[in-house]
Amino acid sequence: MPASIIVIDDDQTIQETVRLDFEREGYAVTAVTTGEEALARIQSRRFVTTRRDRDWLVRYLRAPDQMLADQDPIAVTLFAKYKNAPMPNLRLSDGEIAVVLSFVEAQSGGRQDEARQGPAPR
Ligand code: HEM
Repeated sequence: MPASIIVIDDDQTIQETVRLDFEREGYAVTAVTTGEEALARIQSRRFVTTRRDRDWLVRYLRAPDQMLADQDPIAVTLFAKYKNAPMPNLRLSDGEIAVVLSFVEAQSGGRQDEARQGPAPR
């Protein structure tokens, strides 16, 4: 998972130039015009259900150990981030996964696809 950068500049040309520079360096870049927009983007990715897509969350809750073994890039990154403590496979049924995810979504302002407003982040 590449590190993310938000470029804020009200000059379209500068915005594009800086964005391209960082993208060439391998960063995931979002370019916006105002500080408010930048904060809104950060806010919208605060919760796991708005940060990850639903399909990934379902697969991860079903078998986090398998995702790690298969070298899923997000699972590998999280594993390293949490000092090699693996998330255990909780043997949740598909029904239980659906209930858990609905609960988390309800607590955190919806899913990624519902939370996005305006143009999708780049
Ligand atoms: C129903 C209960 C649980 C749910 C819904 C859940 C959900 C999740 C989710 C969605 C992630 C990914 C976070 C992200 O994408 O940023 C995660 C990661 C993680 N979870 Fe859980 N989890 C549960 C139970 C547990 C338990 C019981 C443990 C430990 C005993 C645990 C340990 C971890 C760890 C260590 C990670 C980071 C991944 C890694 O280090 O490999 N989780 N969990």
